[in-house]
Amino acid sequence: MTRGTALITGASSGIGAVYAEKLAGRGFDLVIVARDFDRLSAISKRVSRDYGVAVTPLPADLSNSTDLKKVLAKLGDDMTLRLLVNCAGMGPNGTVLASDVEGLSEMVHLNVDVLHALTVTAAKVFASRGEGAIINIASVVALMPERFNPTYVASKAFVLALTEALEVELKPKGVRIQAVLPGFTRTEIFDRAGIDIKMIPQEMMMDASEMVDAALAGFDLGEIVTIPSLADLSLWQNFSQARGELAPHLSLKHAAGRYAIGAN
Ligand SMILES: NC(=O)c1ccc[n+]([C@@H]2O[C@H](COP(=O)([O-])OP(=O)(O)OC[C@H]3O[C@@H](n4cnc5c(N)ncnc54)[C@H](OP(=O)(O)O)[C@@H]3O)[C@@H](O)[C@H]2O)c1
Repeated sequence: MTRGTALITGASSGIGAVYAEKLAGRGFDLVIVARDFDRLSAISKRVSRDYGVAVTPLPADLSNSTDLKKVLAKLGDDMTLRLLVNCAGMGPNGTVLASDVEGLSEMVHLNVDVLHALTVTAAKVFASRGEGAIINIASVVALMPERFNPTYVASKAFVLALTEALEVELKPKGVRIQAVLPGFTRTEIFDRAGIDIKMIPQEMMMDASEMVDAALAGFDLGEIVTIPSLADLSLWQNFSQARGELAPHLSLKHAAGRYAIGAN
């Protein structure tokens, strides 16, 4: 007996590959998605041998609409699916002003549009069955927009907001959703973006295995938002509370007095 199937995007390297290993260790069969079929096949053979679970490589370029449709169809068709983990994503190199808009749009498409389509499709399927879970890999930069490439930051803020908002709809249906906000994590993302990982302070860099262990522990604790590095949880709770206190003041019939437009 397994715990059902987990579909993991971006499973050929980095955080997604670690999720594949850890979820197999927890008894999930896997469908692993990425572009690099050779790497998927190697992971598939090793993980199925080591953990005795079924691992199916599903090669797909998620930025390609035909390939994306194939993965969306899998989410709808596979009755054993219980978990979607969205890890496929790309990072930037440098500032927006120094980047070409086509490259930035490609990143928005993968980090936002593709993740959105997969998340909403899985949400509908799981909600109709009254069970299932979705794990979305965002980033701590969603909480500090001034510190990083603006397009990447905005793409990760989308993932965080989508997850928190969707949780409201999914909870009554018996479906879990979690946003994971890693800080710097040792993966290929830096190489792929042309960034020298050695330029990043090593005390800020977590190993992917430790990051995923913490994220899964956060999932087990029932967290909707997991920040693996954050030791003092009250900092996040205070931040969320302050946001909640803003809410009753954000949509009112009249403009605020400081705008002096005479309606008050
Ligand atoms: N590493 C960090 O410091 C860090 C921090 C915060 C958040 N994150 C987020 O964590 C997620 C995973 O990144 P990572 O650090 O593990 O980087 P990574 O090692 O570069 O992994 C990215 C994965 O996405 C896949 N991928 C990329 N483009 C794809 C496409 N068009 N279609 C299908 N798969 C695609 C890659 O496989 P193929 O090349 O085989 O397609 C690879 O498996 C990303 O969303 C990233 O933004 C990373």
